Amino acid sequence: MKTDKTDILALLRNSKDYVSGQQLCDRFGVTRTAVWKVINQLKGEGYQIESISGKGYRLLEEPEDILSESEIASRLHTKWAGRKVYYYDVTGSTNNDAKRCGEEGDPHGTVVVADIQNAGKGRRGRGWQTLSGTALAFTILLRPDFVPDRASMITLVMALSVAEAVEEVLEGAEDAVTTIKWPNDIVLNKKKICGMLTEMTMTPEMDEIQYIVVGAGINVNNGSPEEFQEEIRETATSLKIETGRQVSRAELLEKVLLRFEENYAVFLETLDMSGLREAYQNHLQGVGNEVRVLDPAGEYTGISRGINDRGELIVEKEDGERVQVYAGEVSVRGLYGYV
Ligand code: BTN
Repeated sequence: MKTDKTDILALLRNSKDYVSGQQLCDRFGVTRTAVWKVINQLKGEGYQIESISGKGYRLLEEPEDILSESEIASRLHTKWAGRKVYYYDVTGSTNNDAKRCGEEGDPHGTVVVADIQNAGKGRRGRGWQTLSGTALAFTILLRPDFVPDRASMITLVMALSVAEAVEEVLEGAEDAVTTIKWPNDIVLNKKKICGMLTEMTMTPEMDEIQYIVVGAGINVNNGSPEEFQEEIRETATSLKIETGRQVSRAELLEKVLLRFEENYAVFLETLDMSGLREAYQNHLQGVGNEVRVLDPAGEYTGISRGINDRGELIVEKEDGERVQVYAGEVSVRGLYGYV
C-alpha cells in the first residue's frame, strides 16, 4: 500500500491534467477501491485533491510541509542516495538508527529521517534537540571503499551539499546569505541553521571502513528563537525565522540528496576536495578574517586562508606561519558571538 501511495502521489504531482481512476488502476495494477483509499489517505494528510466524475483526480495543492515516507519517496530522483528510506515520526537518534542499518546490511545510500528525535546527538557528546514539525533530521549510510583517512572530508562534502540545497529552496529570498563555518556548520545570516555528526565504524580487523553515517540536523520551520534551547538561542536560527518562508522539509531533503550524490561523485574522482574546493570555499565564512583555533595544545588566533585539498583549514599566524587545522573547534570572528 505504501508503494502505491508513493507512486500515485508522484503521478498526480507530475500530471498537469486529470488522471482517471482507471488509469491509476491500470498503471499500478490495483483495484478502484485501493485507489480510492489512497486518495482519501492523501486528503487526510492535507493534500488537496479534486475528484470529478468522468475526469478523475487532480492534485490542486500540497501541504506546505509534510514529512512522511510517501512524501519523501515520491520526490526522490536520485540514483543511490535515499533509494531506501526509513522514516520515523519519533526516534532516538537517526545516526544510531543508520548505524543499526549499517550492521544489518542495508545498502549504501540508505537514509533515515525523523520528525522528532528524543535523544539526538551533537558533536563533542552534546545533545541535539529536534522538535516536531521544525527540523529536518536525517542520516545517510555510506559504504565506501576508500581508506579511513579520507573519511573526514565526507562531512565537508555534505556541508557543501546542504549549503547548496538551502540556497536552492531559498532562491529569491532577499538578504538570505548561506555560508559554511568550517568544517560543517551551515550558517544563515551569521547564525547556525545546521550541524552535522559523522561517525565511522571499522571492520573487526580495524583495517577498512565498514560504514560511515553522516547525520545532519537542519533548523527549517522553527517559528521563533524561543523554540531553541536557551544555551543556543543567541547563535541558532531557522530558514523560517530568517526568511519568513515555510519550507517543505521533504523538498529540502530531496535537494540535499541530489547535491550530495553529485558532489560525492566529484569527491570520489580524486578522493580529496580538489574538485569541490572552489565551490566549498565560495561558501566558506570568514576567509581573510580572524579565526580562533581552540587547539587542545593551546589556543591561538590567525587569519583564515580557506581550505587545502584535504579539506583542512589553513590558518596564517601573526608571524606568517601557516598551520593546517584538521580537527577541533574554530571560532570565526563575526559569528556566534565572537566579536
Ligand atoms: C552539532 O553538534 O553541530 C552536530 C549536530 C548533529 C545533529 C544531527 S540531527 C540528525 C543526526 N542524528 C543525530 O543524533 N545527530 C545528527
